Amino acid sequence: MAKKTYWIFYILFLNTTIQIVNGGFQKLFHKGIRYERLSLLNFTEISTEYGYKSEEHTVITEDGYVLTLFRIPKGKNCHFTVQTTPVLIMHGLLLSSDSWIDSGPEAGLAYLISDDCYDLWAGNVRGNYYSRNHTRMNPEVDSEFWKFSLNEVGVYDLPAIIDYILEYTRSVKLNYIGYSQSGGSFIIMCSERSGYCGKVSVAILLHPAAKMTNVKSQAFRIITKACEILEPNIQNALEYEALPRGGYIQKMMHDICQNDFIADTICRSILTMLDSYNPGSISVSTIRALTGHFPAGTSFRVMAWFSQVLNKEEFQNFDYGPVMNMKIYGRKQPTTYNCNATTAPVVIIHGENDNIVSKKDVEWLKGQLPNVLEVVYVKNPLWNHFDVPYSQHTREMLYPKIGEYLFKYSGHGAE
Ligand SMILES: *[C@@H]1O[C@H](CO)[C@@H](O)[C@H](O)[C@H]1NC(C)=O
Ligand SMILES: *[C@@H]1O[C@H](CO)[C@@H](O)[C@H](O)[C@H]1NC(C)=O
Ligand SMILES: *[C@@H]1O[C@H](CO)[C@@H](O)[C@H](O)[C@H]1NC(C)=O
Repeated sequence: MAKKTYWIFYILFLNTTIQIVNGGFQKLFHKGIRYERLSLLNFTEISTEYGYKSEEHTVITEDGYVLTLFRIPKGKNCHFTVQTTPVLIMHGLLLSSDSWIDSGPEAGLAYLISDDCYDLWAGNVRGNYYSRNHTRMNPEVDSEFWKFSLNEVGVYDLPAIIDYILEYTRSVKLNYIGYSQSGGSFIIMCSERSGYCGKVSVAILLHPAAKMTNVKSQAFRIITKACEILEPNIQNALEYEALPRGGYIQKMMHDICQNDFIADTICRSILTMLDSYNPGSISVSTIRALTGHFPAGTSFRVMAWFSQVLNKEEFQNFDYGPVMNMKIYGRKQPTTYNCNATTAPVVIIHGENDNIVSKKDVEWLKGQLPNVLEVVYVKNPLWNHFDVPYSQHTREMLYPKIGEYLFKYSGHGAE
């Protein structure tokens, strides 16, 4: 109990300090900041800026969440017929679809995939700034809105997005690319929603986060632990939202990181501290752009779930404590996900220097999934977690494998 009180005081203290520093900073510099133009724009505006035509779609989940989905039906540099099998790409924790375009047309995976003539769809899960709406609930006042963990993303969001795309494009199957938490939510979907795995021709999981006991990043452990401790103490709706876009942490990061020197030193160090060091991989302009879209917001419960997962040997549902677990799951322990229900062919791509999702946990996952075609490690031994969306070298390091499997598993190929 004493430990918990200490934590709460520590977090409150940190919180207040950051607010004061940020307030002072804003007064001093705010007017003088020259923002990276793209960091203030949305997916449609950014892709249009680079000459990519995109579309906005709205998907409503079974439980009423309103999600925004973006589509680039044909890349600017695609000069052939677009493949009929659509491609869905899903973002990582605290990110949004914008993470696939923040590194620009030379490196952003949404551009590379659509330029290679695939019908590219980029989703957003409940709780981030593109999917912060509901048919009945108001995220500003209804705390119920925020009572979801990654379980609901896998059980409701992914199936709704997949059904929408298949219906809209009149396709039977699509190809799925899931980064980090979207690897985990894919496995949750396959475990909990029978039939949905069969709608995916191939699932390419980039640095998938499932069991995470071997996380090396102390910063990630501390942040998620703080959320786990705070979660049961939260009272009003807005406090349930963790690290929103427009919140003071995002605003402060965005403001200070607009200076090239600071972006290259302080802001790069923050990314390094959360993950690991890969010198020069992420360009300064990408750092300036990404801070406009990261952190993108989620629920405290998602963050708390990650903290639980770091300490559990199983890949399991949210742990409410024995009493609530009994009510919800009918047993004291949360239910574990059935990894062997992931019947779709899976390709795992990972990096040796990822301090958030470690190699050991990826190897564990490989042993659990019944239909793994290949586990590939990116050639650069310094390749880390944030390199997937943000590195300027994705075209050489990441895309060839992705392209190889998308091609094999599109329309003409094996279904
Ligand atoms: C993106 O910006 C455009 C232009 O300002 C606007 O029309 C559109 O509604 C925005 N889309 C989203 C999803 O915010
Ligand atoms: C939220 O979703 C509803 C559809 O259920 C829509 O009518 C409304 O305009 C949306 N609100 C915002 C702010 O996008
Ligand atoms: C998955 O494994 C469990 C436990 O070993 C087993 O009971 C179940 O039948 C398996 N399911 C499939 C789809 O193979």
